[in-house]
Amino acid sequence: MLDSKIIIALDYSDKSQVKELCAKLDNKKCKLKIGKQIFTKYGPSIIEEVQSLGFGVFLDLKFHDIPETVYKACIEAFKLGVWMLNVHALGGAKMMESAVKARNEVNVDAKLIAVTLLTSLDRLEISQDFTDNRINVVKSLAAQAYSCKLDGIVCSPADIRNIDNDDTDFLYVTPGIRLETSSDDHHEVFTPKTAIDLGSSYFVIGRPITQAKDPMVVINKILSSI
Ligand code: C5P
Repeated sequence: MLDSKIIIALDYSDKSQVKELCAKLDNKKCKLKIGKQIFTKYGPSIIEEVQSLGFGVFLDLKFHDIPETVYKACIEAFKLGVWMLNVHALGGAKMMESAVKARNEVNVDAKLIAVTLLTSLDRLEISQDFTDNRINVVKSLAAQAYSCKLDGIVCSPADIRNIDNDDTDFLYVTPGIRLETSSDDHHEVFTPKTAIDLGSSYFVIGRPITQAKDPMVVINKILSSI
Protein backbone atom coordinates (compact mmCIF):
# COMPACT_ATOMS: atom_id res chain seq x y z
CA MET A 1 0.00 0.00 0.00
CA LEU A 2 1.18 3.51 -0.82
CA ASP A 3 2.32 5.81 1.96
CA SER A 4 -0.79 7.70 3.14
CA LYS A 5 -0.69 11.47 2.84
CA ILE A 6 -2.87 12.05 5.88
CA ILE A 7 -1.38 13.16 9.18
CA ILE A 8 -3.99 13.60 11.89
CA ALA A 9 -3.32 16.35 14.46
CA LEU A 10 -4.04 14.93 17.91
CA ASP A 11 -5.04 18.25 19.43
CA TYR A 12 -6.54 16.65 22.51
CA SER A 13 -6.08 17.32 26.19
CA ASP A 14 -6.61 13.76 27.34
CA LYS A 15 -5.16 10.37 26.54
CA SER A 16 -8.58 8.74 26.60
CA GLN A 17 -9.57 10.84 23.58
CA VAL A 18 -6.44 9.68 21.74
CA LYS A 19 -7.22 6.05 22.51
CA GLU A 20 -10.82 6.45 21.45
CA LEU A 21 -9.76 7.95 18.12
CA CYS A 22 -7.02 5.36 17.50
CA ALA A 23 -9.52 2.54 18.00
CA LYS A 24 -11.49 3.89 15.04
CA LEU A 25 -8.51 4.42 12.69
CA ASP A 26 -6.73 2.26 10.14
CA ASN A 27 -3.02 2.79 10.83
CA LYS A 28 -2.17 2.18 7.17
CA LYS A 29 -4.29 5.10 6.05
CA CYS A 30 -2.93 7.82 8.34
CA LYS A 31 -0.15 8.95 10.64
CA LEU A 32 -0.56 10.90 13.86
CA LYS A 33 0.80 14.28 14.86
CA ILE A 34 1.67 14.68 18.52
CA GLY A 35 2.03 18.32 19.47
CA LYS A 36 3.11 20.41 22.41
CA GLN A 37 -0.06 20.05 24.50
CA ILE A 38 -0.38 16.30 24.68
CA PHE A 39 3.39 15.71 24.71
CA THR A 40 3.85 18.13 27.59
CA LYS A 41 1.11 16.39 29.52
CA TYR A 42 2.13 12.77 28.94
CA GLY A 43 5.70 12.81 27.62
CA PRO A 44 7.21 9.98 25.55
CA SER A 45 4.65 7.47 26.87
CA ILE A 46 1.97 8.88 24.57
CA ILE A 47 4.28 8.32 21.59
CA GLU A 48 4.98 4.75 22.67
CA GLU A 49 1.27 4.08 23.09
CA VAL A 50 0.27 5.11 19.60
CA GLN A 51 3.36 3.50 18.06
CA SER A 52 2.40 0.23 19.74
CA LEU A 53 -0.88 0.46 17.83
CA GLY A 54 1.11 0.67 14.60
CA PHE A 55 0.86 4.41 13.89
CA GLY A 56 3.71 6.49 12.50
CA VAL A 57 4.29 9.62 14.61
CA PHE A 58 5.06 13.17 13.54
CA LEU A 59 6.41 14.85 16.70
CA ASP A 60 5.49 18.50 16.28
CA LEU A 61 7.58 20.28 18.91
CA LYS A 62 9.05 22.93 16.56
CA PHE A 63 12.46 23.08 18.24
CA HIS A 64 14.11 26.54 18.16
CA ASP A 65 17.20 27.08 20.29
CA ILE A 66 20.99 27.24 20.09
CA PRO A 67 22.44 24.52 17.81
CA GLU A 68 23.86 22.31 20.57
CA THR A 69 20.61 22.30 22.53
CA VAL A 70 18.59 21.46 19.44
CA TYR A 71 21.09 18.74 18.52
CA LYS A 72 20.66 17.08 21.92
CA ALA A 73 16.87 17.46 21.89
CA CYS A 74 16.72 15.96 18.37
CA ILE A 75 18.86 13.01 19.46
CA GLU A 76 16.32 12.25 22.20
CA ALA A 77 13.35 12.80 19.91
CA PHE A 78 14.67 10.51 17.17
CA LYS A 79 15.50 7.88 19.78
CA LEU A 80 11.75 7.73 20.42
CA GLY A 81 11.41 6.26 16.94
CA VAL A 82 9.35 9.09 15.52
CA TRP A 83 8.69 9.07 11.78
CA MET A 84 8.89 12.87 11.47
CA LEU A 85 10.15 15.78 13.59
CA ASN A 86 10.25 19.53 13.02
CA VAL A 87 12.36 22.55 13.94
CA HIS A 88 12.00 26.27 13.21
CA ALA A 89 13.98 27.40 10.18
CA LEU A 90 14.39 30.75 11.97
CA GLY A 91 16.79 28.97 14.32
CA GLY A 92 19.33 29.38 11.53
CA ALA A 93 21.48 27.19 9.29
CA LYS A 94 23.79 25.94 12.06
CA MET A 95 20.82 24.88 14.15
CA MET A 96 19.21 23.07 11.22
CA GLU A 97 22.50 21.33 10.39
CA SER A 98 22.76 20.19 14.01
CA ALA A 99 19.26 18.74 13.78
CA VAL A 100 20.17 16.90 10.56
CA LYS A 101 23.33 15.56 12.23
CA ALA A 102 21.24 14.22 15.12
CA ARG A 103 18.76 12.61 12.73
CA ASN A 104 21.56 10.98 10.72
CA GLU A 105 23.17 9.63 13.87
CA VAL A 106 19.98 8.08 15.24
CA ASN A 107 17.76 7.17 12.30
CA VAL A 108 18.70 8.26 8.81
CA ASP A 109 15.26 7.24 7.52
CA ALA A 110 13.31 9.57 9.81
CA LYS A 111 12.03 12.82 8.29
CA LEU A 112 13.16 16.21 9.51
CA ILE A 113 11.27 19.25 8.34
CA ALA A 114 11.28 22.98 9.09
CA VAL A 115 8.59 25.48 9.92
CA THR A 116 9.26 28.69 7.99
CA LEU A 117 7.09 31.62 9.15
CA LEU A 118 4.16 30.80 11.38
CA THR A 119 0.99 31.59 9.45
CA SER A 120 -0.51 33.02 12.63
CA LEU A 121 1.94 35.93 12.67
CA ASP A 122 0.52 39.15 11.41
CA ARG A 123 2.12 42.49 10.70
CA LEU A 124 1.28 44.01 14.06
CA GLU A 125 3.13 41.33 15.96
CA ILE A 126 6.58 41.34 14.41
CA SER A 127 8.76 43.47 12.21
CA GLN A 128 6.94 44.69 9.13
CA ASP A 129 9.99 43.65 7.10
CA PHE A 130 9.01 40.07 7.77
CA THR A 131 5.31 40.24 7.16
CA ASP A 132 5.34 42.65 4.19
CA ASN A 133 7.79 40.30 2.50
CA ARG A 134 6.23 37.13 3.80
CA ILE A 135 6.67 35.12 0.66
CA ASN A 136 10.29 36.19 0.22
CA VAL A 137 11.04 35.28 3.83
CA VAL A 138 9.32 31.91 3.38
CA LYS A 139 11.23 31.35 0.11
CA SER A 140 14.55 32.16 1.68
CA LEU A 141 13.92 30.00 4.77
CA ALA A 142 12.76 27.11 2.57
CA ALA A 143 15.92 27.42 0.45
CA GLN A 144 18.03 27.43 3.60
CA ALA A 145 16.22 24.36 4.96
CA TYR A 146 16.89 22.61 1.65
CA SER A 147 20.57 23.52 1.59
CA CYS A 148 20.91 22.29 5.19
CA LYS A 149 19.55 18.95 3.89
CA LEU A 150 16.25 18.93 5.71
CA ASP A 151 13.59 16.81 4.02
CA GLY A 152 11.00 19.50 3.61
CA ILE A 153 8.98 22.29 5.18
CA VAL A 154 5.59 22.99 6.70
CA CYS A 155 3.76 25.54 4.58
CA SER A 156 0.50 26.56 2.99
CA PRO A 157 -0.24 24.82 -0.32
CA ALA A 158 -0.34 28.34 -1.79
CA ASP A 159 3.34 28.86 -0.96
CA ILE A 160 4.64 25.82 -2.84
CA ARG A 161 4.76 27.32 -6.30
CA ASN A 162 6.58 30.40 -5.01
CA ILE A 163 9.19 28.27 -3.31
CA ASP A 164 10.10 26.91 -6.70
CA ASN A 165 12.35 24.02 -5.70
CA ASP A 166 12.65 21.49 -8.51
CA ASP A 167 13.78 18.62 -6.26
CA THR A 168 10.68 16.43 -6.29
CA ASP A 169 11.80 14.68 -3.08
CA PHE A 170 11.53 17.89 -1.04
CA LEU A 171 8.43 17.52 1.15
CA TYR A 172 5.65 20.05 1.65
CA VAL A 173 3.60 19.27 4.73
CA THR A 174 0.47 21.39 4.51
CA PRO A 175 -2.13 22.30 7.16
CA GLY A 176 -5.38 24.16 6.42
CA ILE A 177 -6.99 21.28 4.52
CA ARG A 178 -10.77 21.07 4.39
CA LEU A 179 -13.20 18.93 2.39
CA GLU A 180 -15.87 21.57 2.81
CA THR A 181 -15.80 25.34 2.95
CA SER A 182 -15.63 25.77 6.75
CA SER A 183 -12.25 27.25 7.55
CA ASP A 184 -12.26 27.16 11.40
CA ASP A 185 -9.43 29.54 12.29
CA HIS A 186 -7.36 29.26 9.08
CA HIS A 187 -6.86 32.34 6.87
CA GLU A 188 -7.28 30.20 3.80
CA VAL A 189 -8.22 26.56 3.27
CA PHE A 190 -7.63 24.09 0.45
CA THR A 191 -9.33 20.88 -0.58
CA PRO A 192 -7.10 17.80 -0.57
CA LYS A 193 -7.24 17.68 -4.38
CA THR A 194 -6.21 21.33 -4.77
CA ALA A 195 -3.42 20.86 -2.23
CA ILE A 196 -2.10 17.86 -4.18
CA ASP A 197 -2.30 19.76 -7.45
CA LEU A 198 -0.28 22.56 -5.84
CA GLY A 199 2.39 20.05 -4.77
CA SER A 200 1.49 19.03 -1.22
CA SER A 201 3.22 15.85 -0.02
CA TYR A 202 1.33 15.35 3.27
CA PHE A 203 -1.76 16.97 4.79
CA VAL A 204 -1.96 17.91 8.46
CA ILE A 205 -5.65 17.60 9.30
CA GLY A 206 -7.16 17.94 12.73
CA ARG A 207 -10.75 18.84 13.43
CA PRO A 208 -12.41 17.55 10.24
CA ILE A 209 -11.23 14.08 11.27
CA THR A 210 -10.99 14.26 15.06
CA GLN A 211 -14.48 15.74 15.42
CA ALA A 212 -16.12 13.45 12.88
CA LYS A 213 -18.58 10.81 14.04
CA ASP A 214 -16.78 8.28 11.87
CA PRO A 215 -13.22 9.46 11.16
CA MET A 216 -12.59 6.68 8.64
CA VAL A 217 -15.45 7.93 6.47
CA VAL A 218 -13.68 11.30 6.26
CA ILE A 219 -10.28 9.68 5.67
CA ASN A 220 -11.64 7.49 2.88
CA LYS A 221 -13.39 10.49 1.34
CA ILE A 222 -10.10 12.41 1.36
CA LEU A 223 -8.17 9.50 -0.10
CA SER A 224 -10.67 8.92 -2.87
CA SER A 225 -10.77 12.64 -3.68
CA ILE A 226 -7.09 12.59 -4.55
O1 C5P B 1 -7.24 20.78 10.66
P1 C5P B 1 -7.03 21.64 11.88
O2 C5P B 1 -7.21 23.09 11.58
O3 C5P B 1 -7.82 21.21 13.07
O4 C5P B 1 -5.49 21.42 12.23
C1 C5P B 1 -4.93 22.05 13.31
C2 C5P B 1 -3.50 21.57 13.41
O5 C5P B 1 -2.73 22.11 12.34
C3 C5P B 1 -2.84 22.00 14.69
O6 C5P B 1 -2.21 20.85 15.27
C4 C5P B 1 -1.82 23.01 14.27
O7 C5P B 1 -0.64 22.92 15.05
C5 C5P B 1 -1.53 22.64 12.83
N1 C5P B 1 -1.17 23.83 12.05
C6 C5P B 1 0.09 23.93 11.58
N2 C5P B 1 0.48 25.04 10.88
C7 C5P B 1 -0.41 26.02 10.62
C8 C5P B 1 -1.71 25.92 11.08
C9 C5P B 1 -2.07 24.79 11.82
O8 C5P B 1 0.90 23.02 11.77
N3 C5P B 1 -0.03 27.05 9.90
